[in-house]
Amino acid sequence: MLNVGVIGLGSISDFHVKPYAANSEAKLFAFCDMNKDRLDTAGKLYDVQSLYTSYEDLLADQNVDAVSICTWNATHAEIAIAALKAGKHVLVEKPLCTTVEDAKRVEDAVKASGKILQVGFVRRYAKNTKLVKSFLDNGDFGELYYAKASCIRRLGNPGGWFSDKDRSGGGPLMDLGVHMIDICWYLMGKPKPVSVSGHTYSKLGNRSNIQNLSFYKASDFDASLNSVEDLATALIRFENGASLYVDVSFTLHAVKDDVSVKLYGDKGGLELEPQLMMTTERHDTIINITPQIDHLNFQFEEAFQSEIDYFVASCLGKATTLSPVEDGVEVIKMLCGAYESASLGKEILL
Ligand SMILES: NC(=O)c1ccc[n+]([C@@H]2O[C@H](COP(=O)([O-])OP(=O)(O)OC[C@H]3O[C@@H](n4cnc5c(N)ncnc54)[C@H](O)[C@@H]3O)[C@@H](O)[C@H]2O)c1
Repeated sequence: MLNVGVIGLGSISDFHVKPYAANSEAKLFAFCDMNKDRLDTAGKLYDVQSLYTSYEDLLADQNVDAVSICTWNATHAEIAIAALKAGKHVLVEKPLCTTVEDAKRVEDAVKASGKILQVGFVRRYAKNTKLVKSFLDNGDFGELYYAKASCIRRLGNPGGWFSDKDRSGGGPLMDLGVHMIDICWYLMGKPKPVSVSGHTYSKLGNRSNIQNLSFYKASDFDASLNSVEDLATALIRFENGASLYVDVSFTLHAVKDDVSVKLYGDKGGLELEPQLMMTTERHDTIINITPQIDHLNFQFEEAFQSEIDYFVASCLGKATTLSPVEDGVEVIKMLCGAYESASLGKEILL
């Protein structure tokens, strides 16, 4: 049995807490949030008795074996390193942290501790991703040489800490680009990134004037502060000659929101989002393939359950995590490289 603590009880924490509660080998043991009301409410709801307003106090609890870190991005490194030093396994929400220096410090702490650290790249754990990965691993698409991913919100700056660069590390690139870059890079076989050309734009602000359209908000929503970009684009080149183009926005004059993940190989291609579809050719004819499965699109709750189940099994020595710390470090290099390139106005080497 794995005794688990959850640090940060805001919007995403339910997608950790419920899967732990549903996992017969995990016990929800302790909660932490610096917001006392939120902490007490969650404690009552899930019948968790060990409640802390300071993560240091939770980490000092010898009964806790593992923690989920669901706090602001800029706190991830500090809390993850403290947790590893305290002998806990760690599941840290994406992004791993907000700087390359911190990413390396976390990686060093993982090596020194011998504990598991899983990065919350939840899309890797989705059923559709696993299915596509089995086709890829069997060579059905040949060599993947180009990928393109988009996560466009026309109105969707979550406000609060998300729009405060000091606490988030950045806007849509840090928040949404992290998922898009990671899932493409993972499916491409994790080629070594060698350079990146990024652009960021702050043209529209958070469009807080817009009425009659709802969107995802941070628990402590506050539209008055916004120091992050509206739109980011990045072109990443890899050592094997492959390339990846990504664009992501919190606000944009787009006709509708749009999520798409597309990968192209020399034997076939695939779209993972908005829904799974594959294409190839047979006997001089192009054929599109629609797998006959329950859901062709990304299933949020199912993917989180799978992510948590993998983490628990990894901590108990029964599985190997699909998203280890070194992958989190590589993704941070690509994200921070894109921001650096955007500020310098030229392509940079990674
Ligand atoms: N995997 C996904 O698809 C996904 C989706 C949304 C958010 N996230 C990630 O989850 C994390 C949290 O996002 P959210 O939307 O839940 O934010 P949120 O603002 O709703 O919740 C964050 C909570 O953390 C608490 N907190 C912050 N710093 C703390 C500290 N030092 N000690 C104790 N508590 C602290 C806050 O009081 C708040 O309750 C972020 O890293 C975000 O990128 C991931």
